[in-house]
Amino acid sequence: MSTVYQSYERAPDLGTPAPEAGTKLITLTIDGNEVTVPEGTSVMRAAALSNINIPKLCATDSLEPFGSCRLCLVQIEGMKGLPASCTTEARPGMKVTTQNKKIADTRRGVMELYISDHPLDCLTCPTNGDCELQDMAGAVGLREVRYGYKGENHLDAKKDTSNPYFTFDPSKCIVCSRCVRACDEVQGTFALTIQGRGFESKVSPSQNQSFLDSECVSCGACVQACPTATLSEVGLIEKGVPEHSVITTCAYCGVGCSFRAEMKGQEVVRMVPNKDGHANHGHSCVKGRFSFGYATHKDRIKKPMIRETIHEPWREVSWDEAFTFAANKIKGIQAKYGKNSVGAITSSRCTNEEVYIIQKLVRAAFGNNNVDTCARVCHSPTGFGLKATLGESAGTQSFDSVMKSDVIVIIGANPTAAHPVFASQMKRRLRQGAQLIVLDPREIDLVRSAHVEADYHLQLRPSTNVAVVNALSHVIMSEGLQNQKFIDERCDPEGFNAWKEFILDPVNSPEHVFEETGVSPEVVRGAARLFASKPNGAIYYGLGVTEHSQGSTTVMAIANLAMCTGNIGREGVGVNPLRGQNNVQGSCDMGSFPHELPGYRHVSDSATRALFGTTWGVEISANPGLRIPNMFDAAVAGTFKAMYIQGEDVAQSDPDTHHVTAALSSLECMIVQDLFLNETAKFATVFLPGSSFLEKNGTFTNAERRISPVRKVMEPLAGLEDWEVTQELSKALGYPMNYTHPREIMDEIARLTPTFAGISYEKLDRLGSIQWPCNDDAENGTPTMHIGEFVRGKGLFKVTPYVPTDEVTTRMYPLLLTTGRILSQYNVGAQTRRTENGKWHDEDVLEIHPHDAEQRGIEDGDWVGLQSRAGETVLRAVISERIQPGVVYTTFHHPFSGANVVTTDNSDWATNCPEYKVTAVQASKVTKLSDWQMKFAKFTDEQLEHLRRAREPQAIG
Ligand code: SF4
Ligand code: SF4
Ligand code: SF4
Ligand code: FES
Repeated sequence: MSTVYQSYERAPDLGTPAPEAGTKLITLTIDGNEVTVPEGTSVMRAAALSNINIPKLCATDSLEPFGSCRLCLVQIEGMKGLPASCTTEARPGMKVTTQNKKIADTRRGVMELYISDHPLDCLTCPTNGDCELQDMAGAVGLREVRYGYKGENHLDAKKDTSNPYFTFDPSKCIVCSRCVRACDEVQGTFALTIQGRGFESKVSPSQNQSFLDSECVSCGACVQACPTATLSEVGLIEKGVPEHSVITTCAYCGVGCSFRAEMKGQEVVRMVPNKDGHANHGHSCVKGRFSFGYATHKDRIKKPMIRETIHEPWREVSWDEAFTFAANKIKGIQAKYGKNSVGAITSSRCTNEEVYIIQKLVRAAFGNNNVDTCARVCHSPTGFGLKATLGESAGTQSFDSVMKSDVIVIIGANPTAAHPVFASQMKRRLRQGAQLIVLDPREIDLVRSAHVEADYHLQLRPSTNVAVVNALSHVIMSEGLQNQKFIDERCDPEGFNAWKEFILDPVNSPEHVFEETGVSPEVVRGAARLFASKPNGAIYYGLGVTEHSQGSTTVMAIANLAMCTGNIGREGVGVNPLRGQNNVQGSCDMGSFPHELPGYRHVSDSATRALFGTTWGVEISANPGLRIPNMFDAAVAGTFKAMYIQGEDVAQSDPDTHHVTAALSSLECMIVQDLFLNETAKFATVFLPGSSFLEKNGTFTNAERRISPVRKVMEPLAGLEDWEVTQELSKALGYPMNYTHPREIMDEIARLTPTFAGISYEKLDRLGSIQWPCNDDAENGTPTMHIGEFVRGKGLFKVTPYVPTDEVTTRMYPLLLTTGRILSQYNVGAQTRRTENGKWHDEDVLEIHPHDAEQRGIEDGDWVGLQSRAGETVLRAVISERIQPGVVYTTFHHPFSGANVVTTDNSDWATNCPEYKVTAVQASKVTKLSDWQMKFAKFTDEQLEHLRRAREPQAIG
């Protein structure tokens, strides 16, 4: 399949940002031509829009104009001197001259000063050919530099190479401040300053530290903004200027940032955030921007492998042999144990098309509904709770909607770590004056960071979300702060009346729940009043809501809170789940649930079954299949014997590792399709090499329901894209599928799924991305849902009683463990651990409050044994006041940490989503690893040896 490359050229830089959208247009004259632009446009941008490029250095259209370099001078009739075009607003009737001798001489003079303190090593400079300073020297016609290098200069300034992804060479800096402004305005980290004055001015990370030691989070915004080679990507330095680019979508988190993969041949030189990306508007985080090296890491497995049992070495085989082997195993197992003894797990890392054809394979070739997705262990309560109350299993807004919010509530989410690009946008809105309420057991960064401070931090005890959200609604209802008009017009009256009676019960008052939640009643009352008093209130939540025994209840309580304040159905408001992985929304949309076909249609519905069954030429079972935890239970019980897992590492990511590994060890055949021999693949008998997001075509759907194109930038290292592998396996099973390109899979999805009816690759290419529903009623998609009417008609308030979790602290397990993510690693870390990101986080640690640490004689850096009723592991302690007494916290990015050895099999009552966020534990100082860790190390060594033998057959014997 051929790859269509786009040219390397990027969108033109119009110098200053577009003004706030307004309707008024004005007309001015630039170099004798009439130009009409929106009011508020700068002279520089007006000129650029009419193809007149005024030289510039300190201006770029992603940053507010600064007016420091004086290169963009123009003449304006009636104005004195030569004003800077970047900071001068275009006015009606203005007459602008952009070029004459006086202007040219002045610009040349300015440029000469810059160049006199800049090394003239253009030929060997890494950005030769990709440098605005070089371009501008040409544009202003600089021919000589009269001042020479004899005077004072910065040419010997020392290079900072501490950051693994970009270098900082101050000898090339022109102190234009673009990097500083990018860090402030775009990223919101405020890590850079210009220190000193005049000739002494210099860019400085934090307190004159190296980039690595500073507050910098390596988002790359400063590198992007730098017009010189001062800040340069290591990829660019090593590989040279790219020659073509392809627009694709980041494969890490649910923000779904659009990138230009800038390439040389089959090699990625750098990933540059796409200015036209609707989810990211040209911004990125360290993962999407820099952490793509895993795609070509030496650990990639590029050949199919098979073996009879997990105790023997792998054997590399041809694709055909692997498909035949796998298909025979599945057929044999079904013949022996029955049709329902096999199933599959799809991945939210994979594309919509890949997920779709796996659930099709299960339903058509396996002949059952035993398909589930990793959303089971993260956002399944979102689907349940939002469907029940609002009528659609998805977030209600676009990310851009936050720019119209007056008050933002964040519940159980840590956006700066897990959804960093959206966090930057949110911080921008907060700096503009929106107010913030955080519900989290831990002091996340947004509670207090540069220029952002939460108005209220409700530092609740883990597992008490329902009690706190109910208490917020109780205050609103009991103080008459609700939006009764909205409720009367938009919501189901019966549901509302039942809920009103429930929520007004004093058991839901902040005073009553205080002992349980630990949040002072005044704080709850203040937060409730603030939320109800503002015109636009938006709620964002994450896994700290869903991964609880009452995850679905909390989602419904959040929907109640939004409905009772009228915060649904327009910009600036809404209920917004921050989906974890890149395609969680998509994997749910695509019907990879045991009870639902694509588009959330229940398998018991005969019309839906007939629709898919007729198209696929099979009869679809009306019985819901097994959920992931049921598959594990059935495997341990001996009734479930084979699994096909694509792109999902259940052995590391799912709770209660002992149980999961017991289940995986009980299978007779496990087919793993992945990039690496991950923890799950160590229990596999068939390994089918996967392709990274750079090696395939398809689409991802982000947290705002935005379907974005994933485009192949290099050929698959193992020869097949993931969808092709599934298709071949299906064929070997006797159910051939005949797609020639993922576009045909999407066409089928669109034909069979009303909310996708208007989606096609052609439209995606034309519009860049589309938010579903997209059909005849919404040809270009739906940025905001539930406008005028809820998807289910009337919004349905649900009664949401607080039921304490069974996972309670005892004398034996007196602490509560809760888990989360950090910025530089991603989920199970299979990808990010194979990049330079380990420089920031090379092990998971246990955060413990000083009080709890002191009681146990634990000091910073000590090894701590963490025991729960499920298991025991050992982690290094970090003493921190970010966590409250009685609570400990860790991340789960490294398999050896064994965070999930400790988490239990408790789960959400409605969806079985595991209760990762609450585990009763004891922590004590230890001097050796846990038994599990020692066994894990031994098993890993054995499995790596089995792999080594496959890769080096001569090693055998
Ligand atoms: S990489 Fe990002 S966080 Fe770091 S200094 Fe640059 S803009 Fe700031
Ligand atoms: S590092 Fe680059 S962007 Fe920053 S001041 Fe220097 S030249 Fe300008
Ligand atoms: S915010 Fe998410 S989607 Fe965007 S670059 Fe970072 S990891 Fe990728
Ligand atoms: S570009 Fe206008 S002053 Fe620098």
